[in-house]
Amino acid sequence: MVRQYDLRQRFQWLLPPAPVWHNPAETQVTAPLGRWNLYIGSAGAHAPGYVNLDLFPLANVDVAANAEALPFANNQFQRVECDAVLEHAEFPEKIMREIERVLAPGGFAHIVVPFCHPYHAYPTDFRRYTPDGLLQLKGNLEVIAQGWRTGPTSTLLVTLLEYAKLWMPNKALRGLTHVTLGWLLFPLRYLDAILLKKPTAHILGNHHYLWLRKP
Ligand SMILES: C[S@@+](CC[C@H](N)C(=O)[O-])C[C@H]1O[C@@H](n2cnc3c(N)ncnc32)[C@H](O)[C@@H]1O
Repeated sequence: MVRQYDLRQRFQWLLPPAPVWHNPAETQVTAPLGRWNLYIGSAGAHAPGYVNLDLFPLANVDVAANAEALPFANNQFQRVECDAVLEHAEFPEKIMREIERVLAPGGFAHIVVPFCHPYHAYPTDFRRYTPDGLLQLKGNLEVIAQGWRTGPTSTLLVTLLEYAKLWMPNKALRGLTHVTLGWLLFPLRYLDAILLKKPTAHILGNHHYLWLRKP
């Protein structure tokens, strides 16, 4: 039997580009990696230069642990990445305090969370954050930069794709809908290059980021 991930790999060329455009401002922050860096919640992706930690022992994961209690000493990491994880954690405040604890003085944390985004369980999905709500979790860390990674058009396109799939009676048709609609819609993602310049973009923003520094 051909397994699902084999099929996905074999037909990867068919998959449409993501329906989201990433704001380049997010990566224009100077936050160099150090000798030790931590990537929380990679979902099995490669994270070169980082200790790769996830709740589950997936591919490429070095440490399987709950980030609410990181198995590391204080002041150990120069950089901590926590991208699309807080919404899946039972106690996100604990993760933020653990990030603060394990960061070395002068070290940087990069946090990303969704605002307007469909339900997605990894393995659960508890909440969404406004930028104000995310700031409430910063503790004693200093804000270096805050902004939108993906904007209102991303919100519209990911929602439209999920909406269309809701009408499909089985997995095969949902997959076909994802591929066909995905190819048709993805060019619209570039509209966010315009919309993200508007001060009102936050009303329908998709994912936002926060760069923090430990004093
Ligand atoms: C949505 S995926 C994010 C994947 C990746 N960071 C990205 O942006 O593409 C969320 C990941 O966080 C992990 N995760 C969820 N809760 C966690 C926790 N309390 N501690 C560590 N990892 C967690 C999940 O297992 C999953 O791999």
